[in-house]
Amino acid sequence: MVFHAANVAIFLFILVGAALHHKRQLHVKMMLTAFVLDLALLFAVELADGAVAQAYRSVGEGKAIIMTHVAFAVSGLVMWIVQIHAGRKIYKQGRMELLPRHAKGARLFLFFRLGNVVTAFML
Ligand code: HEM
Repeated sequence: MVFHAANVAIFLFILVGAALHHKRQLHVKMMLTAFVLDLALLFAVELADGAVAQAYRSVGEGKAIIMTHVAFAVSGLVMWIVQIHAGRKIYKQGRMELLPRHAKGARLFLFFRLGNVVTAFML
C-alpha cells in the first residue's frame, strides 16, 4: 500500500514538474528529483518483494498483467534517460531545436509512467 501511495505521489510530482517547464531551473530540479525518487522506489520494491526475480518468473509463466507492468516500467526508465539527455542539452547548451523532440518524449514518457501506475494497482 505504501508503495502504491509513493508511486502515485511521484507521478503527480512529475506532472507538476512537467507543467512548470517554463520555470526552467525549477523544472530541471523537479525532474531530476523525481528521477532519483523513481529509482529509490524501484530499489525499495526490489528489496521488499524481490521484484526483479518475480518479473523474470512471471515472464517465464506468461503472466500478462505483470509482463505489461514490467514493459511500462522498463519503457519509462528508458524514456527517463532519453528525456534527461535531451533536457540537459537544451538547458546547458541552449539547443532549442531539441525542444519539439523533448516535448514528444514527454508525452510518451507520461503515457508509460501512467501505465505503470494503473497496472501496479492490478497486480
Ligand atoms: C521525464 C522527464 C521530463 C519531462 C516529462 C519533461 C517535460 C518537458 C516539457 C513538456 C517541456 C516543454 C516543451 C515545449 O515547450 O515544447 C520541457 C521543456 C524543457 N525541459 Fe523538460 N522534461 C523532463 C526532463 C527534463 C530534464 C531532466 C531536464 C534537464 C536536465 C529538462 C530540461 C528542459 C528544458 C531546459 C526545457 C525548456 C524550458 C522552456 O524554455 O520552456 N527536462 N520539458
